[in-house]
Amino acid sequence: SESHAIPGYAYGNVSQTTPLSLEELDLLKQTVLFSPEDERFLHLAGEVLGDQTEAILDVWYGYVGSHPHLLHYFSLQGQPDGHYLSAVRKRFGQWIIDTCTRPYDTAWLAYQQEIALRHHTTKKNLTDDARAEPIIHLRYILAFIVPLTLTIKDFLAAKGHNAETVAGMHAAWFKAVTLTAVLWSYPYVHTNEF
Ligand code: HEM
Repeated sequence: SESHAIPGYAYGNVSQTTPLSLEELDLLKQTVLFSPEDERFLHLAGEVLGDQTEAILDVWYGYVGSHPHLLHYFSLQGQPDGHYLSAVRKRFGQWIIDTCTRPYDTAWLAYQQEIALRHHTTKKNLTDDARAEPIIHLRYILAFIVPLTLTIKDFLAAKGHNAETVAGMHAAWFKAVTLTAVLWSYPYVHTNEF
């Protein structure tokens, strides 16, 4: 498929040991009130967002680019790595679609672990041979739930769905991003503390 043409994108091709079993994932889903209805709303969100990913990424990259403390993580000694920024951008666009449309199964869990390691010192910079900071601090990964959730609303509303449907898609997206950030915290904490 087309997505395999994205450099460094390895969905379905990683053999990471996952921190959670499917049963434990189910408990986490219950904890963020993620239901089969949210799955349906996420699929609809995938259809709504599918042709808007470039515009969404313009907003998110504008946000990162205008905050030096965030651009820092794409940079070394204050010098942003342009190749790194554009390579990650392509995978970020694919992530929007994957988050909405992929089943949350063992392959999904394995790729969450892979992306977690790519934010952590374990694997940061390796995929793109980047010259940049060696770790993204956990506090910002968690804090990103807010901008990634609030800024998606207008894009969810852009295709003329009624307010109730937009709210449903938005809540489902919020839960999905929260689940993601929780899973990505795994490499940052002691094993028995996750
Ligand atoms: C990589 C999403 C937090 C900077 C990525 C990728 C995605 C993503 C989808 C590409 C994954 C792949 O390789 O397939 C997110 C989400 C976050 C988050 C959903 C929080 C909920 C952050 C924060 C920063 C950041 C706070 C700091 C500026 C980066 C960088 C990479 C990356 C530098 C490349 C990592 C590497 O070297 O491979 N992120 N991100 N991310 N993100 Fe994030």
